[in-house]
Amino acid sequence: MGFFTKDIKSLNDLFMHGLQDLYYAENQIMKSLPAMIEKATNEQLRAGFEKHLAETEGQVHRLRQVFELLETEPKGDKCPAIEGILKEGRDLMSEIGDEDVMNVGLVAAAQAVEHYEITRYGALIAWATELGRTDVVPMFKANLAEEKATDQKLTQMAERRVNPKAEKTDKPSKPKSTARRKAPKAAARPVKAKRPAKKARRRA
Ligand SMILES: [Fe+2]
Ligand SMILES: [Fe+2]
Repeated sequence: MGFFTKDIKSLNDLFMHGLQDLYYAENQIMKSLPAMIEKATNEQLRAGFEKHLAETEGQVHRLRQVFELLETEPKGDKCPAIEGILKEGRDLMSEIGDEDVMNVGLVAAAQAVEHYEITRYGALIAWATELGRTDVVPMFKANLAEEKATDQKLTQMAERRVNPKAEKTDKPSKPKSTARRKAPKAAARPVKAKRPAKKARRRA
């Protein structure tokens, strides 16, 4: 039973389609992580990928629990979005020769995956809630929390560890807010067109 565009007629159909998409995605991510672990030469990054592989196995298990609660067989639906993100990651890995650059590239590729997952779990939580299936929400929330934590760790690595330039500058504990970073210089005031010299006041 495939969900094609016209098979999605209700929010429940959309929810089921999203769930099957994500189930497919998590399984694909699980298969992709070992290659990323192998390519990562940065210890922290490698350990992070290993941890997330274990987490991903747990996430697949939670999604199975969701299917069980919904009284349906666990089933994946091929998701072109994650296929593309993972393919891009594989292509990138095959094209990078330098180890440091590889680590930087892996962080970026992994973050693309995490951001995909974060958006999908967010949608599923909203739809499940609207459909009154609050019983499955905790599983989605648990997975979402792991994706967000992973994304944050990747950001920290990109800023402090993996990026060789960031390491060299070795700025200790930057303020967390990135809002101030690269604050544009005070915008120059727009140059006012020279106004023609005021005519002498006509009125005395
Ligand atoms: Fe995941
Ligand atoms: Fe993830």
